[in-house]
Amino acid sequence: MKRVVVFANWKMNKKLDEAGDFIKKLVALLGGRQDIIVIMCIPYTYIGSVTSLIKDTCIEIGSENMHAGEWGEFTGEISAPMLVSVGCSHVLLGHSERRRYFEETEEEVGRKMLSALKNGLTPIVCIGETLEEKESGRALEILDKQIRVCLHGIPPSHRCYVAYEPRWAIGTGTTPEYGEIEKTHLFIRKKIGEYYGEIVFGNTGVLYGGSVTADNSYKICSLNGVDGVGFGGCSLDFDCFTKGIEEAARTVVRTDR
Ligand code: PGA
Repeated sequence: MKRVVVFANWKMNKKLDEAGDFIKKLVALLGGRQDIIVIMCIPYTYIGSVTSLIKDTCIEIGSENMHAGEWGEFTGEISAPMLVSVGCSHVLLGHSERRRYFEETEEEVGRKMLSALKNGLTPIVCIGETLEEKESGRALEILDKQIRVCLHGIPPSHRCYVAYEPRWAIGTGTTPEYGEIEKTHLFIRKKIGEYYGEIVFGNTGVLYGGSVTADNSYKICSLNGVDGVGFGGCSLDFDCFTKGIEEAARTVVRTDR
């Protein structure tokens, strides 16, 4: 059975006890499911204390960022080996807020992607155009560049995700038209295959993020070329998030009955 992939991006929200309660409830409700993979990207400080809760479940823990280097004089930074040592398995890279507020470049995102894979973390590499780029008809050109630079040197045979997150859709309640999402995902896939070959193409899931809720996750996950979705604001609310996951899971064709 092909599984639908869902990720949460909590950003700078929740306290430790809230994070623990949320993950415990999530494990109780969905932990045994075979049709979904749920990647919880949460603040660094909570990762180590929740990884023991998700053992042998369909839930994975991810970080929201990391430094491209492994060790050294980078006060305040967190690296891939450090994340792995506390049981983290995934990492969100190049989120638009990292690019916008912390001036992360495509090249830096690419270096982080390589360090993540080298150290055994599965990256979720975010790409997406700004409103201005979209309005000037340059969206595909921007995505093409991001695919070339952020995935440069990607070794085959590693699981990787690319999240298409149009910057103008994040936190706005607005998404592209469904047909537009499908077209863009097919474009992204084609370029991944063209630049990195069949093995990388086969190992890379393409996810959509930006104003996903329980009202649109089924429709979006039904589109060609969409392997799953990411929830930002909606993932902070247990009911919104779990309804969104259930809707996404309705697209999975079950082979066990
Ligand atoms: P949103 O955020 O769902 O609140 O639009 C998505 C994201 O930032 O990944």
